[in-house]
Amino acid sequence: MPNSNKSPLRNPRSKRPLRPVHIVGTGSYVPDRILTNADLEKIVDTTDEWITTRSGIKERRIAPDYICTSDMATEAARRAMDQAGIRAEEIDLIICATITPDMPFPATACVIQNKIGAKRAAAFDLEAACSGFLYGLEVGQQFITSGTYDTVLVIGAEKLSTIVDWQDRSTCVLFGDGAGAAILRSRGEEHGILTTCMGADGSQADILMMPAGGSKFPASKESVSAGMHHLKMSGKEVYKQAVIAMQTAAEEALRKCNLTINDIKCVIPHQANSRIIEAIADRLGAPMEKIYMNLQRYGNVSAASVAIALDEAAREGRFQRGDLILLVVFGSGLTWASCVIQW
Ligand code: ACO
Repeated sequence: MPNSNKSPLRNPRSKRPLRPVHIVGTGSYVPDRILTNADLEKIVDTTDEWITTRSGIKERRIAPDYICTSDMATEAARRAMDQAGIRAEEIDLIICATITPDMPFPATACVIQNKIGAKRAAAFDLEAACSGFLYGLEVGQQFITSGTYDTVLVIGAEKLSTIVDWQDRSTCVLFGDGAGAAILRSRGEEHGILTTCMGADGSQADILMMPAGGSKFPASKESVSAGMHHLKMSGKEVYKQAVIAMQTAAEEALRKCNLTINDIKCVIPHQANSRIIEAIADRLGAPMEKIYMNLQRYGNVSAASVAIALDEAAREGRFQRGDLILLVVFGSGLTWASCVIQW
C-alpha cells in the first residue's frame, strides 16, 4: 500500500498544504462508423491476419467529415461532467491534449470551452502526442494540489483519420478517432492521484512525426504533393522505444509510491499495439488479466487512447473506490508518462 509518511502533503516552497487530487468523473466518445480490418483489405494491400497478429487491432472508429476533434472532445467532456455531477460553470481550467486540433489556432480547448459553456474556465491545448492525456493530468493536478483551481477538465481527443496516409499500409491500419475526458477535483479525503512521472527524449523526434504544417515546413503545394502532412513512423524503432520507456516509467511510478505491481488492481497502458502491451506486462511481471485493453476495437487514438480506456475500464467495474491503478503511456517526441491513482 502507499507510503503513509507522504501524508499530509506539503509544498516545500509554500505554507499552504497540498491538496490530494481525485478523478471525480470520466467520459468518452467514439464515432459510430466502424472501419474493420476487412474494410481495410479493400483500401490497401493488407490482411486481417497481418493486422491482428502484428497489432491486435480488429477495427477502429472513423469520424465523418462534419465531426472535428472539438466535437468528440465536447461529447466526452459532457459525459465526464454528468458522471461527476458538475456544471460547466464550475470548471476553472480546460486542458485539451491533441495532435489533431481543429486548427493551428485558436486552441481546441477554447472551442470546447465555448461549446460546453464553461464561461469561467481558462483553456489551452497541450501537445505530447500519445502521452498527452497523462501530461494533462499532471499539469491539471498541479493547479488543484496547489489550491490555484478547484475543478480542471482534462481531455485527450484526436481525429487521426485526417493525418493518416490512407495509401501507407504500414501506418493507416493502426490509428482511429475518438475522445476521452476526466474531471479533476479534490474530494477532501486522502489518496487520489498518488504520483505522476513524465519524460521526453527529443533526440528521437524523427521516428514518429508529421513533418509539415508548422513553421519549419509551412503548408505549400510542394509539401502537400510530397505527402508531408501525413503521419510518418519507423514502426520497428517506435516499438523498441515504447517497450523500454513504458517499462521504465511504470517502474518509476511504482517505486515513488513504495508499491509493487502486485499492489495494482488494474494497469491501463497506451493502446497502440497488443504486442507492446504484452511485452510490458511480461517485464513488469503483471498477469494479462490485470491489463486493460480496448485497442482491438479502437486502434491507437493517440492522446485519447488512455483516456477512453480509463473511462471504459471504470464503467466496466475493473476497479473500485480505493483500488490502485497504474496508467502508462508513450508517444511521439519521444514522450512518456505514468501515473498511480488510488481510485
Ligand atoms: N499489411 C501487410 N503487410 C504489411 C503491412 C500491412 N498493413 N504493413 C507493413 N507490412 C509489411 C512490410 O512492408 C514488410 O514487408 P517486407 O518484409 O516485404 O518489407 C513486413 O510487413 C514487415 O514489416 P515490419 O514493419 O517489419 O513489421 P513489424 O513486425 O515491425 O510490425 C508494426 C509493424 C505493427 C508497425 C510494428 O513495428 C509496431 O507495432 N510498431 C510500433 C508502432 C506503434 O505502436 N506506434 C505507435 C506508438 S506511439 C504512438 O501511439 C504515437
